[in-house]
Amino acid sequence: MAVSDPGRGMRFLRAVNGLRGTVTVPGDKSITHRALLLGAVNDGPVKVSGFLRSADTLATLGAVRALGVLVEEEDDKTLSVRGSGWQGLHEPEDVIDVANSGTLIRLLPGLVASREFLCVLTGDASIRRRPMARVLAPLAAMGATVSGRRGDTLPPFSIRGGQLRGLTHTLPIASAQVKSCIILAALRADGETSVAEPGASRDHTERMVRYAGGRVEREGDPRGPGVIRVWPADKLSLGSVSVPGDISSAAFLLVAALLVPSSEVSVTGVGLNPTRTGLLGVLGRMGAALEVKPGQTLGPEPSGTVTARSSDLTATEVGPDEVPSLIDELPLFLLAAAKARGTSRLRGAGELRAKESDRLQAMAELLRALGAEIVEHPDGLDVTGSPRGWKGGSILSYGDHRLAMVGAIAGAASQDGVLVDDPGCMGVSYPGFVQTLAELGG
Ligand code: S3P
Repeated sequence: MAVSDPGRGMRFLRAVNGLRGTVTVPGDKSITHRALLLGAVNDGPVKVSGFLRSADTLATLGAVRALGVLVEEEDDKTLSVRGSGWQGLHEPEDVIDVANSGTLIRLLPGLVASREFLCVLTGDASIRRRPMARVLAPLAAMGATVSGRRGDTLPPFSIRGGQLRGLTHTLPIASAQVKSCIILAALRADGETSVAEPGASRDHTERMVRYAGGRVEREGDPRGPGVIRVWPADKLSLGSVSVPGDISSAAFLLVAALLVPSSEVSVTGVGLNPTRTGLLGVLGRMGAALEVKPGQTLGPEPSGTVTARSSDLTATEVGPDEVPSLIDELPLFLLAAAKARGTSRLRGAGELRAKESDRLQAMAELLRALGAEIVEHPDGLDVTGSPRGWKGGSILSYGDHRLAMVGAIAGAASQDGVLVDDPGCMGVSYPGFVQTLAELGG
């Protein structure tokens, strides 16, 4: 149960009878962004079904329209993106506001880098603190003209496209956003581009480009370092894209079921791309009762059903090799660790400090507010869990959607409830989260 307290947030109370039921979750955020962006330069219309209607993806819809691409909304979850090739992108009349979306502000520059017009991007206060040199420097090396605040490192920034050269680039940190930005630009370069990544970050862009007839290959360890090679593609032929449920949204309900006694929750139609399912392996190691049933492959993406039942968890360690496969689920892993027997350790996750909030610092604070014993490191946390769980308390989400939802789950698993300061930000990725949690018995 959730009780709204205007001006003071929302209190999430103990799920007294457990969480039970079978649900679907809204469409995958990463795949929705990519379907809109690649649809915008596709040769002909692209039907996108299962579209996620959230604050982040609506910003992408607005950006695509600002670039002159017609998008028809057939219903709440179905769009027709009327792409007419790369020449169909036109100079926007105004600054593009990405709101809170890191994926939009990092992928869009790659999309427009070959077009000879000016595009200026900005976003909310969190976005204006996030590092951008990681995308602007490689685009400049390919031939685009970029300029941004604080020596081309922070938004707002501008990009004026041009004739692009192929690039050989090494990512210092695994990042699907940076990799995808370079891949989008590389589709328009005059030769081959290669991007070396130190870990296997999500590969939705690569899959969608291949699905559209483009050539992208990866060599290396499917779960570790690799090199992605991209060739120019003048034409993309996507046809239609079916977006599966977002595993990152499902993860909140699944972890809730593990932590709340007498629970059993199934999420159907959820994306099971192996570069995204790291949390399931980590929880399995902790003794979680999880069942994965593969189902349909929706275009380029596998999907299926995942079921979670209440479980007694034991501590585990997550290191740098595993981090990219659960980058957005690490706050949930840390919450699960706070109810596990023993001390769990997370390392190699310094990148969490550059997300919507500093998620290492904010999670240390959140878990301490619940009474957990935490040691903070530059690149991770040690969490000593208490299998008895926590009484409750109040948490700060720092306007970060994933932290607000972690707080809600913590409340459902608590004795006295958890007050979440800013539940509105959950709409960035998961509108309807509170209602679904309530339907399950939360
Ligand atoms: C995303 C990539 C990840 C992730 C983000 C979405 C994407 O960021 O944290 O929520 O859609 O490409 P990084 O690529 O910066 O790790």
